Amino acid sequence: MSEVAPYAVRDGVAVITLNNPPVNGLGNALRAGILQGLQRADGDANVKAVVLIGAGKAFSGGADIREFGKPRARPDLWEVNEAQDAMKKPLVAAISGFALGGGLELALACHYRLATPKAQLGLPEVKLGILPGSGGTQRLPRIVPVSKAVQMMATGNPISAEEALQLGLVDEIVQNGELLPAAVVYANKLVQEKKPLRRIRDLQAKPDVDFKRVREEVGKASRGYPAPLEIVACVEAAVTKPFDQGRQFERERFAHLVQTSESAALRHAFFAERQTTKIPDVPEDTPARQIKKAAVLGAGTMGGGIAMCFANAGIPVTITDTTREALERGIGRIRENYAGTVQKGRLKQEEMDKRMALIHPTTELEAVRDADIIVEAVFERLDVKQEVFRKLDGIAKPGAILATNTSTLDVNKIAAATKRPQEVIGTHFFSPANVMRLLEVVRAEKTAKDVLATTMKLGKTLKKVPVVSRVCDGFIGNRMLEKYVQQSLFLLDEGATPQQVDGALQKWGMAMGPFTMYDMAGNDIGWEIRKRRAKERPDFVYGKFADRIAENDWFGQKTGRGWYRYEPGNRKPIPDREVEDMLAKYRQEMGYKPRAISDEEIVERCIYALANEGAHILEEGIALRASDIDMVYLTGYGFPPYRGGPMFYADTVGLDKVLAAIERFREGYHGDQWKPAPLLARLAREGKRFND
Ligand SMILES: NC(=O)c1ccc[n+]([C@@H]2O[C@H](COP(=O)([O-])OP(=O)(O)OC[C@H]3O[C@@H](n4cnc5c(N)ncnc54)[C@H](O)[C@@H]3O)[C@@H](O)[C@H]2O)c1
Repeated sequence: MSEVAPYAVRDGVAVITLNNPPVNGLGNALRAGILQGLQRADGDANVKAVVLIGAGKAFSGGADIREFGKPRARPDLWEVNEAQDAMKKPLVAAISGFALGGGLELALACHYRLATPKAQLGLPEVKLGILPGSGGTQRLPRIVPVSKAVQMMATGNPISAEEALQLGLVDEIVQNGELLPAAVVYANKLVQEKKPLRRIRDLQAKPDVDFKRVREEVGKASRGYPAPLEIVACVEAAVTKPFDQGRQFERERFAHLVQTSESAALRHAFFAERQTTKIPDVPEDTPARQIKKAAVLGAGTMGGGIAMCFANAGIPVTITDTTREALERGIGRIRENYAGTVQKGRLKQEEMDKRMALIHPTTELEAVRDADIIVEAVFERLDVKQEVFRKLDGIAKPGAILATNTSTLDVNKIAAATKRPQEVIGTHFFSPANVMRLLEVVRAEKTAKDVLATTMKLGKTLKKVPVVSRVCDGFIGNRMLEKYVQQSLFLLDEGATPQQVDGALQKWGMAMGPFTMYDMAGNDIGWEIRKRRAKERPDFVYGKFADRIAENDWFGQKTGRGWYRYEPGNRKPIPDREVEDMLAKYRQEMGYKPRAISDEEIVERCIYALANEGAHILEEGIALRASDIDMVYLTGYGFPPYRGGPMFYADTVGLDKVLAAIERFREGYHGDQWKPAPLLARLAREGKRFND
């Protein structure tokens, strides 16, 4: 008997249990086991009906994504569905926890469905750039309204058992008692009452939408992604074609989507996100410390956002600042922020009150004494931070984790200010900290393994994507960004305008172009960094035009003028003639001869600069793996998910091509700034990929 799909008979009902932990993923062995069970039940004269049920907490989380894009392993889910359709005995799906993707498709090919009250049902395939490929697009619109089917599949969001019941997707909710005995009773009742074998495939989908409108709406919402429109096309086929033809169409469109680079990138990101917490020398069973209370030092931009992260996760947090005023300003901003969310209807007032009550403001540093983790977010100055850590050392309880939110300072030097450097770690949040998913966890030289393990786990609790970085200037994200910024400025020297650079990168998929980003962050900040870098590193070379913008006090959005102009109260960048004239004059003074630069060159120069620096970072062991670098850019820098991250994108282009382009760039102005990373050169020579 199949271990992944044990078969038993209870009161004349065959029970096939999906038993493939953790989520009963429909891998090859499970599919074969279900098929075997169905055949056995069909031939067993003692069996009058069949129940499919999941072991553990779920019915099934769906397909095994690792099998996608590989040669077809038989039996596939399609064949299981065919066997379901051929059954002469009632088939009941008993759904607890969740039935997602292939899991719901399996349930849709049963004659009846039961669910527990908390169950979730959905077809989330679109999130991986594909569509439900085993009848989902054909069966769902035959049982729920067509508009609802489109919505469920185009967003990928699941619905509750209650909603499923109202829609007819679920026939009954098992309110009390255990699911299995209830399902056996239900199946026997179907037999006694001679209920028909209700195959969804035999129902007629009734269109309640105008497909032209739906295509327009879905097309607009799915910029850059082909899957949602393919889903609409499949639903249209479900309405207009016989089941088997629609099913064939769905199969073709699935096969097409699986091959697209968008889907490959989204699947890469799916796995990459699950990899980041795996640290080779820190076993997964490393005991984590308990984090029941937190503290944040500094109630500024970052401190406030970080405190919100803790409160959102239900962890009480003390927040300190040096003065009453600074503290009150900080708390005011937190309150405003929550109130805005309440106003938009995305948070209940009681929930806001609960969260505010978890945040304890104080000017007494002593108050952090009982915190399990203390996150420092004070001014970005080494002497200030070292002083704070020296004081913390005398106050924090033994075993407390001492974290710093520094973006640029050496965490080893901060740790050295204490007598317990093993408890010190970097937690680099991104702004706005309560929104951005990225958390760079900076592992310093002496950071203890369990401190690292605890911080990674905490990152997940705070609903972040924690990525480990070793100590270096800028850590993973900002160190790479420096090379991207450098190219964006060189491009101006060579003949491009800010709006051309922004336009090219935005069209390619970046959430915003670099110059729009500088205006948002404040051009004074970049200016400060350049001045400091030029002092620290004599080899630091950058396009000098940026200084002229800053010297005019054109600091960006906050001053109404920067690389662009801004209307009061409006964040939309307006191209500025004066900037262009200044740029032309600057080039003349510098002796740069402007040339026409293609959008393609702009994208290659900026994105390959990221990948090349990423290769250095990988080689130096700053990042653990290429996919971690991809996650940093996907979750912290507005990199388009359908491009998979800078390293994955370079892999997709082909590292030999990337290397050849870099060699070409070495010929141009500032070409000496391009140093192909040895790792990139080696992989390119060997025909390999970063993500192998
Ligand atoms: N702003 C960002 O985008 C960003 C992003 C990532 C990391 N960071 C880092 O986060 C830290 C804070 O940055 P910010 O933008 O929130 O700065 P900020 O100036 O908005 O806030 C700093 C706060 O710290 C308070 N402070 C100063 N000394 C203190 C002390 N000894 N004890 C308690 N409070 C003290 C100040 O009064 C101020 O309210 C810096 O290290 C910065 O590099 C900032």
